[in-house]
Amino acid sequence: MPFPETRLRRLRRTPALRRAFAETRIDPAGLVLPIFVKDGVEGEVPISSMPGVAQHDVDSALALARRAADVGVGGVILFGIPATKDADGTGGWDPQGPVPRAARAMKDALGDDLVVWADVCQCEYTDHGHCGPLDARGQVVNDAAVEAYVRDALTYADAGIDVVAPSGMMDGQVAAIRAGLDAGGFGEVVVVAYAAKYASAFYGPFREAAESTMVDGDRAGHQMDPANRREALLELAADVDEGADVLMVKPALAYLDVIADARVSFDVPVAAYQVSGEYAMLHAAAERGWLDGPRAMREAVVSIRRAGADLVLTYAAVELATTADA
Ligand code: PBG
Repeated sequence: MPFPETRLRRLRRTPALRRAFAETRIDPAGLVLPIFVKDGVEGEVPISSMPGVAQHDVDSALALARRAADVGVGGVILFGIPATKDADGTGGWDPQGPVPRAARAMKDALGDDLVVWADVCQCEYTDHGHCGPLDARGQVVNDAAVEAYVRDALTYADAGIDVVAPSGMMDGQVAAIRAGLDAGGFGEVVVVAYAAKYASAFYGPFREAAESTMVDGDRAGHQMDPANRREALLELAADVDEGADVLMVKPALAYLDVIADARVSFDVPVAAYQVSGEYAMLHAAAERGWLDGPRAMREAVVSIRRAGADLVLTYAAVELATTADA
C-alpha cells in the first residue's frame, strides 16, 4: 500500500522497535577469534599494524581463549609461528610446534566449551614464505603441498583440535585432508574449507602477524583473481564434493557478492573471514578520528552476516561479543 497507509519509518522510531525488527544479529557464538601463537616469546608481543592484536606464548594464548569463551565467542582459530623455518616447512607437522601445544592446552583447560580451529597452511613454516615447497620456477608444487597439509592436519588432530581449516588453495586439498583424517581415526574432526580465497592486498598486516612475508613472488598462481565471481562457485562446489563440512569466503567485506552466492547455492554453513587489512584500515581511520571505529566495525560485521555468512572470523570477536547489538 502506498503512503500514507504505508509508513516504513514506523518500525524505526525507537531503539527497542529497531532491535525487535532487526533482520540480522551478531551472535557471539558465530564469531571466531584468530590467535597467533609464537615459539620463543614470553607473554605477548603486540602487532603494530593491528592495534589490539598480538603474538602470544602458549599461556597467554590460553588466557585469551579463556577470555573469548567467557564472553560467549564460539571459537578461536590458531596460527603458529615456529622458532625455525626451512624450505619444506617441516615445522608444520612438529607435534611440539606452537599450534599443537596451544591446542592441547586449550582443550585440557576449556574442554568443549570453545571450538578450537587450526588454520592449515605451510606459509608460516617455510623459509621462503610460500604455501608449500617450490619448483624451479618458484611456483608452489600442488601435490607436495597437499601432502604437507595432510601431515599438518593429522598433527593438529592428534593434539585434540576440533576443526582444521585448509587455507592454501591447492587443488584437492580438502579431499586429501578428509581422507587422511578418516584413515587416522579422526573422522569427527571438522573440515572448514577456505574455498573461495582471493589473492588479496587485504592480507598485508597478517604477513607481519604470522611472519609469513614471501621472500619474492606472490600467491596469484593459486589464490583466486579478485575479478572472478563465477569461478568462486566452481571452487565452492569442488570443496563440497571433496567433503568440506563448511565453506569459507575470504576476504569478507569486498566479497559480499561471493558470500551471498555461497549462501544461496549451497546448504552447508558458510563462514567469512574479515581479514587483517579489513581490521587494520578501520582502526587506522578511527585513530585519526575519521570515523567511529566500534560502530564501523559492527556495521562491517553485520553486513557480512546479512550477505549470508553464518560464521564470521574476526579479530574484533571479543569486542563485538562484549558490546550490545546497536
Ligand atoms: C594462509 C593464510 C593467510 C591468511 C589466513 N591464512 C595469508 C595468505 O594467504 O597470504 C590471511 C588472514 C588475514 O589477513 O587476516 N595461512
